[in-house]
Amino acid sequence: MIVTIDGPAGAGKSSASRALAARLGFRFLDTGAMYRAVTLAAVRRGVDLEDEEALAAVAADVEITLDGARVLLNGEDVTRAVRTFEITTATRYAADNAAVRARLVEWQREWANETDVVAEGRDQSTVVFPHAECKIFLTASEGVRAERRFLDLVARGEHVTRHEVLEKQQQRDSRDCTRTHGPLVKAPDAIEVSTDGLSPAAVVDRLLEIVERCRPQD
Ligand code: DC
Repeated sequence: MIVTIDGPAGAGKSSASRALAARLGFRFLDTGAMYRAVTLAAVRRGVDLEDEEALAAVAADVEITLDGARVLLNGEDVTRAVRTFEITTATRYAADNAAVRARLVEWQREWANETDVVAEGRDQSTVVFPHAECKIFLTASEGVRAERRFLDLVARGEHVTRHEVLEKQQQRDSRDCTRTHGPLVKAPDAIEVSTDGLSPAAVVDRLLEIVERCRPQD
């Protein structure tokens, strides 16, 4: 079974999707982490992120493994390194790069062939798995999302202001929704859930209910 969860940055998708996958016993595909890992590899190699071919060559050359909650880049644990403010901001180049997207989409489909998955990202319901049995669009209001991201970054020891976080979020939202390949759009058959005012546990319960309703009956 394939469960897709798409939505804007900061809606609480990652933690809710991870918890949902654990409750279902499904593999969790954090596809944003894959775009982040390509970016980290490129930054470390000193590749010009605006050079589309060079960035695509990095994507073709790296080995990314999603191992439970860990993200491995060529075997190295980069779970924290891919979540810094710097990499978060720079990831737009990988996300806008058609060749990088094609490579990562291929990987995502291969993984879903092997096992049941909860796949989380921007284009999972629309481009990657249009035939998924269960599609969810997880969202929250702009202010709530920015506040969550701000608190998360501060907890990680980053020096950022609320204003900076909100501004970057608005820029990312705009890019995510307007990119040529794999833009963030709600699939017509996706069920929309707002996480405003819901505790993390309540969000997971709501998602579980939705998945149970979508499960093929035998
Ligand atoms: O979900 P996230 O914040 O970890 O995503 C990081 C970036 O990657 C963000 O700019 C959106 C982009 N992304 C994407 O274009 N397609 C996906 N399937 C997942 C993430």
